[in-house]
Amino acid sequence: MTAPAIDVQELVKRFGGLVALDGVTFAAAQGEVLGIIGVNGAGKTTLMNCICGIYRPDAGAIRLGGQDVTGWAPHDIAHRGVGRTFQVPRVFRRMSLIDNLLVPVLQHKVPDRALIEAAEAMLERMRLIDLRHNFAEELSGGQQKLLEMARMLMPDPQVVMLDEPFAGVHPTLCRFMIEQIEAMTAAHKTVLLISHDLTSIYRLSNRVLALNQGRVIADGGVDAIRGNPDVIEAYLGS
Ligand SMILES: Nc1ncnc2c1ncn2[C@@H]1O[C@H](COP(=O)(O)OP(=O)(O)OP(=O)(O)O)[C@@H](O)[C@H]1O
Ligand SMILES: [Mg+2]
Repeated sequence: MTAPAIDVQELVKRFGGLVALDGVTFAAAQGEVLGIIGVNGAGKTTLMNCICGIYRPDAGAIRLGGQDVTGWAPHDIAHRGVGRTFQVPRVFRRMSLIDNLLVPVLQHKVPDRALIEAAEAMLERMRLIDLRHNFAEELSGGQQKLLEMARMLMPDPQVVMLDEPFAGVHPTLCRFMIEQIEAMTAAHKTVLLISHDLTSIYRLSNRVLALNQGRVIADGGVDAIRGNPDVIEAYLGS
């Protein structure tokens, strides 16, 4: 049996006395979309930050395709094929769109011309090509989210983590982003999708992980999650 694309076991992350992740366990197969839901402060972003190496977990293990990567530095995790976007997009504001896209692939042993062509093709795909020489700071918030997604895709990551891609984004752009996520799974990438937009989560996800106060309160198919009393209580209060 092949190892899951991502396998997280008993992950713990504390900030002083606060337990942000309290023994989180889940796995996702290649090509799967795992939706991650939970109220504000549930631990969703902390989970992503642990997986991508920004935070070192206090306990537990993270495996990618069977390889233990717990405690690895962010650039090593990225090199291992994990990409992510941020809840508030982190673009290089005073760099052009093209240069933003070249940053994660500069070390690739490919001629500059080929990299620039790949960056232009990605901007074309993201409908940002006409702005390729503009500074990233000139983009709208939604366009910055697209740019960040484009930059993440440049090194062709196998595991993609998206933190609130739809937050503050116009419905037309949301639909476009949903199509982009569908294209990622068509390309057999594994997608971890954090969102408060349950309609999009339910539409896109093969499975959903519900977190509350750093714990997994439900992990299952969309239908099971929708009717799960613990999930309903976490969202609506008792
Ligand atoms: N760097 C940090 N230092 C201290 N506490 C932190 C830090 N990062 C997160 N926390 C705390 O950990 C808990 C989980 O935060 P996290 O950002 O993971 O929640 P979230 O589920 O992503 O919430 P939201 O939906 O609001 O984005 C919160 O109580 C938060 O205040
Ligand atoms: Mg968050």
